[in-house]
Amino acid sequence: MSVEKFGKYLLLEKLAVGGMAEIFLAKTSGSRGVEKFVVIKRILPKYSSDPNFIEMFVEEAKLNVNLSHSNIAQIFDFGIDGSQLYIAMEHVAGKNLRQLIKQSPDSKLSIEHSLYVIIEAAKGLDCAHRSTEKSSGELLNIVHRDISPQNIMVSFEGEVKVIDFGIAKSGSDELPEVTRIQEPQDDEATKSTFHELEATKTGELKGKFTYMAPEQAIGAKVDLRTDVFCLGIVLWELLSGKRLYKCISEIKTLEKAQAAEIPELPENIPQRLKEITSKALTKSIDERYQSMGEFLKDLTIFFHQTYPAFLEQNFAEEIKSLFQNDIEATSSKLVDFSKIKVLDTDKNKEETSEDRTQVSTLSAPIPINSQVRSSERPRKRRVIRRKRKRVK
Ligand SMILES: Nc1ncnc2c1ncn2[C@@H]1O[C@H](COP(=O)(O)OP(=O)(O)O)[C@@H](O)[C@H]1O
Ligand SMILES: [Mg+2]
Repeated sequence: MSVEKFGKYLLLEKLAVGGMAEIFLAKTSGSRGVEKFVVIKRILPKYSSDPNFIEMFVEEAKLNVNLSHSNIAQIFDFGIDGSQLYIAMEHVAGKNLRQLIKQSPDSKLSIEHSLYVIIEAAKGLDCAHRSTEKSSGELLNIVHRDISPQNIMVSFEGEVKVIDFGIAKSGSDELPEVTRIQEPQDDEATKSTFHELEATKTGELKGKFTYMAPEQAIGAKVDLRTDVFCLGIVLWELLSGKRLYKCISEIKTLEKAQAAEIPELPENIPQRLKEITSKALTKSIDERYQSMGEFLKDLTIFFHQTYPAFLEQNFAEEIKSLFQNDIEATSSKLVDFSKIKVLDTDKNKEETSEDRTQVSTLSAPIPINSQVRSSERPRKRRVIRRKRKRVK
């Protein structure tokens, strides 16, 4: 079994690759050799080398590391190893909401379960919005700005956790001007233009057009009410079983996001729930819910009145039955990974860089305390040779 060493972590398996980062299941050792599974989000080198990006990243990470709520994946640590920025966070053994939708019968969640997921995510976001600077008590104005089904995790135990606060930042900043973009002539050009669009002058990243509030889509100022709208889009899609804005052409998607015209939800959706969803999806930022807390309150009242017999255990059982095979595969994988030893000693300090970076086997533990420059890494990184699905 071969794994890559990254600072004090062993990267065990690549879970996803996004526009900005690679996501790994990893492990590290704590005091008295207690080992812990974590997720490492390693920022791609093209961003890691931009001083503006580094500054923004560190500022962001400092805010987010203090967020602590059961509906937010906890960030444990962040830093730079060699020349690569990373965040270490709680490993949520589960699937993202997009994957859950895909696995569900007819690619739809029940109204009850849709509401449960949205309520839980809203709790995490409400906590983030209300979080304050510990020393001064001042509001941090954290806004997630990239709420989407891929950024909501559902664990195999049925917990819901918001991830990817990576582009969250204090609400006073403006997003880049996205309105200046012209539709490119061919598909390849579209791809690259829109790929570049994700990176702004300062290297700041922004959300996807399919889950953008109108103020984001026109490049205006965003605040916590932007997250209300974006979570509203996720709710609308869960209830309708359709995508709200997604078009083949990204420029059309962006135009739809700017217009923010919301089609009526299907007949089977209760009137009160339609009203709540539509208030969250109000184009005028001053007329929608003014806080996540207000949105959460209305959702919760409706939920308790309509589904008084709801049990979290039933939701967890549903998840377990949908992902039975994945759960078994994950647990046997974790057993295998547990056998790889992470040594936190200076014993092997004299080994060659090749030894340090290359391979660990079940019987050959490797040290974790040496820093490895990216130039020393073998060109072709070998992680675990296992059939893997890319989730994005
Ligand atoms: N803490 C985590 N635990 C488990 N899976 C995760 C975790 N963080 C991310 N993932 C998986 O990786 C995917 C991409 O992660 P994300 O942080 O959203 O990266 P990106 O910035 O590329 O969107 C998620 O949709 C999820 O499937
Ligand atoms: Mg994401």
